[in-house]
Amino acid sequence: MEKRANFGSKLGIILAAAGSAVGLGNVWRFPTEVGANGGAAFILVYVMCVALLGLPLMVAEFIIGRHTHKNTADAYRQLAPGTPWVFQGYLGVFTSWFILCYYAVVAGWTLKYLVESALGEVTKITESTAYFEMFTSHPIVPLGYMFASVMACHLVIVRGVQGGIERSSKLLMPMLLFIMVVLVATSVTMPGAGSGVAFLLHPDFSKITSDVVLSAMGQAFFSLSIAMGCLCTYASYFTDDAKLVKTAASVAVIDTLVAIMSGFVIFPAVFSVTGVAPDAGPGLVFITLPKVFQAAFTGAPWLGAVFAFMFYLLLFLAALTSMVSIHEPPTAFLIEHFGITRHTATGIVTAVVIAVGTLCSLSFGPLRDVRPLFGLTFFDFFDFISAKIFLPVGGIIISLFTGWRLERTIISDQLTNHGTQPVPQFLVSTFIFIMKWVAPVAIALIFVYELR
Ligand code: PHE
Repeated sequence: MEKRANFGSKLGIILAAAGSAVGLGNVWRFPTEVGANGGAAFILVYVMCVALLGLPLMVAEFIIGRHTHKNTADAYRQLAPGTPWVFQGYLGVFTSWFILCYYAVVAGWTLKYLVESALGEVTKITESTAYFEMFTSHPIVPLGYMFASVMACHLVIVRGVQGGIERSSKLLMPMLLFIMVVLVATSVTMPGAGSGVAFLLHPDFSKITSDVVLSAMGQAFFSLSIAMGCLCTYASYFTDDAKLVKTAASVAVIDTLVAIMSGFVIFPAVFSVTGVAPDAGPGLVFITLPKVFQAAFTGAPWLGAVFAFMFYLLLFLAALTSMVSIHEPPTAFLIEHFGITRHTATGIVTAVVIAVGTLCSLSFGPLRDVRPLFGLTFFDFFDFISAKIFLPVGGIIISLFTGWRLERTIISDQLTNHGTQPVPQFLVSTFIFIMKWVAPVAIALIFVYELR
């Protein structure tokens, strides 16, 4: 049998996992949540959720993945053969598959705006709401963009773990971080940017309600790519000398920094243009920002066009590396479970994503009124079932599994790299305690809240 693939370096591991975490969730969803939930106070709660819950859960997935060196489904089969826990492995595979189907649609939108901004068109849009709606409801054009972004992801996956995932992350992540820094610097020095910066820096604690805490927790899980099998699958390619806690901490820090930096790109720019509300909702990056790019650089429109291009490039790269990480769990599952080649497996996953993604994309146009399941459009259904149901359910199962079922020796072995890097026992105990009680209860709360 062929030797199983693994990542080539520790940096490659961190960048690949960070590539998964940093995505539309950071640049698109996080600023929207910050805008809707009152700025700095939300950010504080968010950081706490990342540190206290997100990080331990990420470590749990790393332990399961690296201990077994198997795809998510077979990992649980190895650890708990013949028990209902095996269900979680399959859930991971399907959650990522489902997420990819609608994530690809939004990735397609970012590609469209990237292309338009490269042509200098985004800064010429006059009616940005109508423009966005006309594009997304078109029966063919958005499909082309979705197809192109899925194919970009396909080309990475088909080249395998080191040649595809690791290489692309090592190239794209530094690019992404560089663009981010340039954009932050430009945005905070715009005239009138001060109130945007203040919005992000001065917490108003009266804004913290239980709703805000729960949204912060949900956002933290989505943003860190927790509970969808991605991290577990990536960890199955980790080398034995990679330090799991350190890797998880680096990924969490990069992810949080990128999210906060996105806030610093968007809000100072938004505030510097009067008449644009910070809580403009999910349309923020597609509807509000084109207006901002135009208005903020009236003296030098070409600068607005460059800023727009860099922003959408950032968004697309972020989306692409995340798509790659969502494509890999089902691909690895098909390869290892059915003994087929990577080529065939990648092709099957891509074909299904394009087929279902087409339905999701058309739900903004011709299929708007087709709501076969729960009265939701295809797009909303796949979003709902994966992000709102499978994800929290998966999170609860993973933490319960790690806390109650996984042997302490496995946990301790993985955290200490087989005793070569000592970790104090009380930290191992705290970790297990969080997995047993804190994480499942916290996630159960989000779950109930989301379903209200
Ligand atoms: N974490 C990614 C983001 O912030 C989204 C993602 C979801 C990635 C699921 C992998 C799996 O956009």
